[in-house]
Amino acid sequence: MSQYFTNDNNLRSEYRNIVYNYKNYSFNFVSDLGVFSKDKVDYGSRLLVENYIEHGDKFKKVLDVGCGYGFIGVVVAKVMSSHVDMVDVNKRAVHLSNINIDNHKVDAKAFISNCYDDVSDKYDVIISNPPIRAGKDIYMKIINDAFNYLNDDGAFWFVMNRDQGAKSTIKKIENVYKVDVIDKSKGFFVILCKKR
Ligand SMILES: C[S@@+](CC[C@H](N)C(=O)[O-])C[C@H]1O[C@@H](n2cnc3c(N)ncnc32)[C@H](O)[C@@H]1O
Repeated sequence: MSQYFTNDNNLRSEYRNIVYNYKNYSFNFVSDLGVFSKDKVDYGSRLLVENYIEHGDKFKKVLDVGCGYGFIGVVVAKVMSSHVDMVDVNKRAVHLSNINIDNHKVDAKAFISNCYDDVSDKYDVIISNPPIRAGKDIYMKIINDAFNYLNDDGAFWFVMNRDQGAKSTIKKIENVYKVDVIDKSKGFFVILCKKR
């Protein structure tokens, strides 16, 4: 069976819509088979984005790693008036993200990249709901290597569930970042990592 992070050229397409409302903002995302949480906004992603909006700053240059159909990046670009670059290893996810960027008229672009392989800029903020199912090597690379793509005062925001090892992950990265847990809900931890 095809995983949401693999590229399957034979996978048929069945577009569907996902509605998300935040305060006065209304979003209508195009989604499809073969992407993460294809039928509804993921609870962890929603918790992450709403905490970022509440505690983060507007007008920042942001990178969304593992963008899927574009939920996090598009919402951040719209509500925080940010420029957002978005990357995913899944071609269909990047295609959907670009549709959703156009439909919501936000200042963003999505492109294919395996982790940071095709990322060349530095960012004020990197945000991610990392791909746990892609395996520890991949998600720890996304978390650890964010450091190298952040400006000096940059911040890396991510979400992880207790069942996915949130606590042990925090312990592992405390020697790299200054780490704060910003919110916890239904086992999900919203984690803010700053360069010291
Ligand atoms: C948990 S999903 C989050 C998707 C989206 N941000 C959301 O909130 O709905 C993780 C995403 O990471 C992507 N991914 C998996 N392995 C990756 C890799 N090596 N490099 C970049 N993205 C990857 C998957 O395709 C998936 O879209």
